[in-house]
Amino acid sequence: MARFLVTGGAGYVGSHLVALLAAQGAEVVVFDSLRQGHRAAVPAGARLVVADLADAGALDATLADGPYDAVFHFAALSLVGESMAQPMRYLLDNAALGMRLIDACIRHGVPRFILSSTANLFGLPDSVPIAEDARIAPASPYGESKLMIERALFWADQLHGLRSACLRYFNAAGADPAGSLGEDHDPETHLIPLVIDAALGRRPPITVFGTDYPTLDGTCIRDYVHVTDLGHAHLCALRQLDRRSVTYNLGNGQGHSVREVIASVERVLGRPVPAVFGDRRAGDPPVLVASSERIKHEAGWSPQFADLDSIVGTAARWRVAHPSGYGSG
Ligand code: UFG
Repeated sequence: MARFLVTGGAGYVGSHLVALLAAQGAEVVVFDSLRQGHRAAVPAGARLVVADLADAGALDATLADGPYDAVFHFAALSLVGESMAQPMRYLLDNAALGMRLIDACIRHGVPRFILSSTANLFGLPDSVPIAEDARIAPASPYGESKLMIERALFWADQLHGLRSACLRYFNAAGADPAGSLGEDHDPETHLIPLVIDAALGRRPPITVFGTDYPTLDGTCIRDYVHVTDLGHAHLCALRQLDRRSVTYNLGNGQGHSVREVIASVERVLGRPVPAVFGDRRAGDPPVLVASSERIKHEAGWSPQFADLDSIVGTAARWRVAHPSGYGSG
């Protein structure tokens, strides 16, 4: 039976992958501090080790309990704005601890490593859609921290034979269509859950950050990709690692503006979204859209939730059923 270690497997994207692995009958060990993750997001069949990546003893003991066919690494701080305020915290928590994890994987003979990376490392792109070989220029210490881990993985492959997949997510969104998993951040800063909660009257009106961008309607454009499709991309990438290391950009290849997201939530919920129009948020690129042709062509990835309303629909169903997130029981 295949056996996997998933750091951050109780978090938003990680838990959706763990559910797919468990559904395939794999043995899954989740390593998560539960500072951002949720115990209730870990399926009954998976083993949960509650520990921080900084706890070298716990990490060593967990890896010694292997062997693992692969390590999926999700555990990280992931807020662009926060990283601009606390750069060293991001570089230490993400980059330094990520490198320690890679080192531990090499020592314990782990053959494959899958990294949760980010579109933020492209900064302000020269053009869209953004392919893997576009210019790299991280827009924040968060993006830089992921780039540093990508570079460490390059050398771990060259010099230690650790095969790796660097998966650069664009905007992860939506929720498990089966209804048991969803997005629950504290504080929540992401557009789709905030717009849904504003529509449901659970939050103040959504503030649209900037209406003077060089886009058709003046608001920022992002490539929203369903979290279950991201999970499947990890499985596609894993299969490629039998032959070589890979890097893939993960999005739908279609951009949607903030106003379009609001309109989608209004269609899906059948009620208006109260909105106010504010200033730009520092560091937001006007347009981020992925080219994911490489993973589609090489690894057969085929997103099931390509249109915005179906992504928003799954997110809305989860928010309606779980008004307090995982705290709703
Ligand atoms: N936005 C608003 N109002 C809000 C929140 C967001 O207008 O209250 C806008 C933002 O300005 C942005 C868009 O909605 O244009 C999406 O914002 P999110 O905060 O949901 O997501 P980001 O694009 O800022 O960042 C996300 C992840 C990052 C990742 C990045 C890669 O949170 O970790 O996508 O594209 F690096």
